Parts: sequence; C-alpha cells; structure tokens
Amino acid sequence: MSGNKILVTGGAGYIGSHVVQQLRNTGRNVVILDNLSTGFHQAAQDTELIIGDTGDKALVNQLLKDHAIGAVMHFAAHTIVPESVSDPLKYYGNNTCCTRNLLECCARHGVKHFIFSSTAAVYGIPGEGLAREDTPPNPINPYGTSKLMSEWMLRDLSAATDLTHVVLRYFNVAGSDPQGHIGQSTRKATLLTKVACEAALGIRDHVAIFGTDYPTPDGTGVRDYIHVEDLANAHLMALDYLEQGGESNTFNCGYGHGYSVREVLDMVARINGAPLHIKELPRRAGDPPSLIADAGRIRTTLGWHPKHDNLEQIVTTALNWERKLLQDDFRNQ
Ligand code: UD1
Repeated sequence: MSGNKILVTGGAGYIGSHVVQQLRNTGRNVVILDNLSTGFHQAAQDTELIIGDTGDKALVNQLLKDHAIGAVMHFAAHTIVPESVSDPLKYYGNNTCCTRNLLECCARHGVKHFIFSSTAAVYGIPGEGLAREDTPPNPINPYGTSKLMSEWMLRDLSAATDLTHVVLRYFNVAGSDPQGHIGQSTRKATLLTKVACEAALGIRDHVAIFGTDYPTPDGTGVRDYIHVEDLANAHLMALDYLEQGGESNTFNCGYGHGYSVREVLDMVARINGAPLHIKELPRRAGDPPSLIADAGRIRTTLGWHPKHDNLEQIVTTALNWERKLLQDDFRNQ
C-alpha cells in the first residue's frame, strides 16, 4: 500500500536538491534515490539518501515497498544537449529506458502521483520563439526526444491506470538557494549563467558568446531564465494539485519573458564589479535564436506566483554559490 512519503530521484542534483529542501521545510517526508553520477552527497543534506539507479528494478521495487511511497518526483537524468547528440543511446538509456523501469515499478506498487522533469527542448525551434504547452513538440536533439518519449509513456500509463501526473517543462534554470546551503555544483558546466559566474571568478579564462548575428534586439540568443527556487516551488504546487484531485497536466516553467546573452553577461560583470573577458564566437549548433515560455497555464491552474523573477537576484545567488564552492571546495569533499 502506498502512503504519503515522496521519492525524489536525482534529489542530490541541482534542481532536485532545491525541491527536497523545500519539501522538508514544509514538513514532507522524503527519501532520495541518486546514483551520485552528477549529484553530490552534501546536496542531500540530512535527507535519507539511497545510492542507486532508477534502472535497478529490484532496488526500486524494494524502495517503493519499504517506504510506502505515494508520490514520485523524477529528476534523475542526463541533461547535456551536445553530449546527447554525440552519445544518443546514453540519453535514451537513462532518460527513457530507466524512466520506463521506474514507471513499471510505480504501477506495480500503486504510486498515486508522478511529477516529471521535462524540458523546453521538447519544443525544438517554435515559431516566434514562444512555446505554449499545446505547441506541437518537435525536438531537435536526442535529449529533447528522450524526455518527450517519457512524457508519452506517462500520458499512456495515466490513461490506463489510476496514476495522475504533472509534466513540468523547464526553461533556463539558474540561481541558487538564497541561504547558500545548496546550488549548482556541476562539473564542466555548459549553462550560460554558470559559465559566466566561473569566468567572473577566474575559474575560467573567458566566457564565449555563441552568435552575435541572431535576429534579436542585440544579436545574441534570448532565453527565459527561471530562478531554481521558483522552479522548485512549482513542484510543490504540482504535488498539492494532484493530491487535491487535479487531473494529469503539462506546464511550462518559465517567466514568459527573456534576456539576451549580453544582458546576462552585463549583469554578471556589474554584480561582480569587474568586466568579463568575453570572446565572440559563431553560433552553436542547434541553438534557437529565442525560446520563451508562454507561462499562463501554470499561473492559472496551479496558482503559481514566482518570487524571484529578477535577473539581478538570479545572478547574485549564482555568483554567491560559485564563491562558496571556491572557498569550501564543496565538490571534492
Ligand atoms: C537549456 C537547457 C535545455 C532547455 C533550454 C531551454 C540544459 C543543459 N539545457 O539549454 O534543457 O531546453 O535551456 O531554453 O539544462 N551561451 C553562450 N555562451 C555559453 C553558453 C551559452 O553564448 O558559454 C548562449 C547559448 O548560445 C544560448 C544561451 O546562452 O543562446 C543559453 O544557453 P545554455 O545556458 O547553454 O542553455 P540552453 O542551450 O538554452
């Protein structure tokens, strides 16, 4: 029999750890499953951590049974787009096949609710750069396809069983816990805000701008940057929604407006108080000029109201976390 405990896969990773912290702060009972391939033991803080894979059927079955899991939040995944292009089976293996395994175990143990970390990458290059949940998905890389296939498995499983689910499609997640307990510790990061903060602190020699000739106001790519704390809160609201009987649904997670690469870099330089060493390079393959969420559905259906829709806050918390990593050498503990 399932109970009220929540399983968070990938809960020792960047986004998962922020969600676990918020769940714990609201008194929820949580257990983490993470193989620590990109996550960190410290990010789990004092939450129970089981080290293992979502693809390990025996382990997952035992865990769901022993903990009487009622809801699953599934973050564990590979997330680097260029890597998915060069090694697609790695992405289909982990993001699709392991998710199928997890879903099979959930169905077997009567898990009631499932919240799935999906991505704006399912949209590919939407017209006008604006993506609505009903924009036909058209991923342009295996990462986006691997996530979309999992969305479809969830849709079909929910139609066939009592499971209800929410798919959250993340736009550009950035920033860190304002209290400074957790943040983005990923090694060899490729995400703009992280790379720019590392360059600001001298961890990297420079930050590149990939493309200055896009049809955007300043010629650089435009993205919808969402603070990780607001994104984490969307997960809690999605779970409340399902627990109150809400039907399965898909929500974009973004603010509905964007910033250019130059605007992000200007903000990092201003907050750090020193100019950045910037190299202007050609466009990166597969990058849409602009990708912004139509963010109405999550606000009207879940009543989600972001608290950190502010680039200065996003960059300030990201820079503070980078400074902390430098001081503590958190990743090598
Ligand atoms: C990220 C997500 C992807 C999601 C997308 C939604 C990951 C790994 N990727 O990809 O899942 O679908 O947001 O929009 O989580 N840039 C530079 N220099 C750099 C790095 C990036 O100029 O060193 C530019 C890019 O060309 C792009 C923008 O910055 O215009 C953002 O890039 P990045 O931070 O890598 O995120 P996305 O590729 O948008």
